[in-house]
Formats: sequence, C-alpha cells, structure tokens
Amino acid sequence: MEWGMQNRLARIIRPETGHSLMLAVDHGYFLGPTSGLEIPAETIRPLAPYADALMLTRGILRTSVTGTTSTPIVLRVSGGTSILRDLDNEGITTTIREAIRLNAAAVALSIFVGAEHEKETLLGLSNLINEAEEYGIPTLAVTAVGKDMARDARYLGLASRIAAELGARMVKTYYCDDFEKVVAGCPVPIVIAGGKKLPEREALEMAHRAISEGAVGVDMGRNIFQSENPVAMIQAVRALLHENATVDEAFEIFNEKKRSSGKEEKAHGKKAVVIGKDQTDPRPKEIKVAQGYYETSKHHEKRRGKEKHDRKKR
Ligand code: 5RP
Repeated sequence: MEWGMQNRLARIIRPETGHSLMLAVDHGYFLGPTSGLEIPAETIRPLAPYADALMLTRGILRTSVTGTTSTPIVLRVSGGTSILRDLDNEGITTTIREAIRLNAAAVALSIFVGAEHEKETLLGLSNLINEAEEYGIPTLAVTAVGKDMARDARYLGLASRIAAELGARMVKTYYCDDFEKVVAGCPVPIVIAGGKKLPEREALEMAHRAISEGAVGVDMGRNIFQSENPVAMIQAVRALLHENATVDEAFEIFNEKKRSSGKEEKAHGKKAVVIGKDQTDPRPKEIKVAQGYYETSKHHEKRRGKEKHDRKKR
C-alpha cells in the first residue's frame, strides 16, 4: 500500500488497537436538522475530542468545526437527494480537489444495492475511487439500505462485498445476525452504523458484538448524539473499542460519566458544556489543546445575540 494511503487509513483506524470510533454527523445532508444535530457546532464540539474521525459534509465542516482541529475528517461527498424524494438517486456533490483542499483523511459515499439507481451509485463509487486513489485518499462506501431491503447478512454481505470489489478501502454497513459472514466476505475493514436510537446499554452491546465478530469499529451517529448524555456515551463506546472494556464496564463508564457531569452542572449552576464567551468545558486541558476548539458559526452567534436582545426587550 502506498505511504499516503496507509497513513490516511492509520489516522482513522488507530494502529495501537486496530479499532476506530468514527462519529457520524452527516445526517443533515438528506434529513435536514435531525434531532440532536440541529446546531451542529454545539453537538460536535464536546464530542469530537473523543472521536478518531468525524464523518460530515463540507458545509458542516466549514461552518461548525474549527480548522485547528487534529481530528481526521471523513468527508461525505455524495448527496443531492432528500427524505422527500427517492433517496437512492444520489450523485457526487463534492470534488476530489475540494476533499484535498479540506485535508480530508477519506471520502465517503452511499451505494444503494438492489434499488432503482443501483447502477448509478455503483458507478459513482467506482469513479470516486478512481479519482481518490490518484491522490492516495481512501474511499469509505456506505451500504445504504432501502425501505424494501432486509438488513440481513445476505443483503449486507452482498452490498459490502460489491463495495470492496469496486475498490472501497473501508465499508460502513449495519450490524445483523450472522455478522461474521458479512465480515468474512468483505476483504476490507468494516465499521458499523449505529442505526436508530437504542437504549444506551443495547447500543453498547451491539457495538461490542460487532467488534467481537470482526468489525474494526463503529461510525455511529444517533446512538451517540441523541443519547441522554452524548459525552458520557462516546466515552463508553471508546472504552469498548480502545480499552477492551466489556459491555458491563462500558455501561458503568456511561453511568459514572453521566453522574459526574450532572454534579459538575450543579456545581456550576449551568450546563457543563455551553457555547459562548463564558463557556465551561469539562474536557481535560490536553484534549482541548490537542484537538482544538469547536466553534459556533458566526450565524449562530448572531442569532443567539438577537434572541438575548429580544428577550430583554420583552
Ligand atoms: C447514512 C449515513 C449516516 O450518517 C449514518 O449511517 C448515520 O449513523 P447512525 O445510523 O449511527 O445515526 O451514513 O447513510
């Protein structure tokens, strides 16, 4: 493998553990302001320091993540559809030059195997890979599952294998029964999506089963940022992936972090993580320094200022 490709993959999949905790915050590209991700900067800022990579679009990267971050970026480069129409009719939205300009560690797009636009999305994947490989950039293929498809090992194994055959360097798919079969048939690393929100312990169980059965990690979104305590949840998932924690231990970490953040909120008389000049942030200093700060966009600051002003007037 060429040095650049190897190095970019090693930024995403940590060589010390062979695992990866990717935080997916790209949902808005077809869902709009998803619950928990209405103001992306607020969601991303406290979570990013615990993630091995952030998966997101260029719009959210530019507006909601500081350029001083060292967290690698997996850039979502497909889209062009919304939940109001056919989701499987995606195209490439972002050029490889843009991905390079944004210093992406990888590019990501969805394929829709078995759907009406299967062929276009598979050729889209192939074209993206042809371009990305020229610059040593890995492509992550996401096996999107249409409404009519079963999320079983047969379907996910088929879609994952096709993605690998076309040259994807990583595949993101769903966890399912007989997941080992999906892994066995796919010669590149697999990460699982979290899917819809589950109770925290169940989400941890799913992640644990996935890595025990051969996934290199997770590319999880809603089960982290829609958690009752997202920062506690991402630390619990991290313990599973990088500290070999059992599900019981990880769940205990979740509860313990949740308890301590509650105490901190009480002590400060306000939320532990808020955006603005008077922000308090419980993260260890070395993490803040290493990873950089996550800023609100000018637009949100302006809006918040206006809301304050309007409240005072009332
Ligand atoms: C959709 C995506 C999503 O970003 C991702 O699957 C969402 O993660 P989660 O299911 O864990 O919320 O890639 O195709």
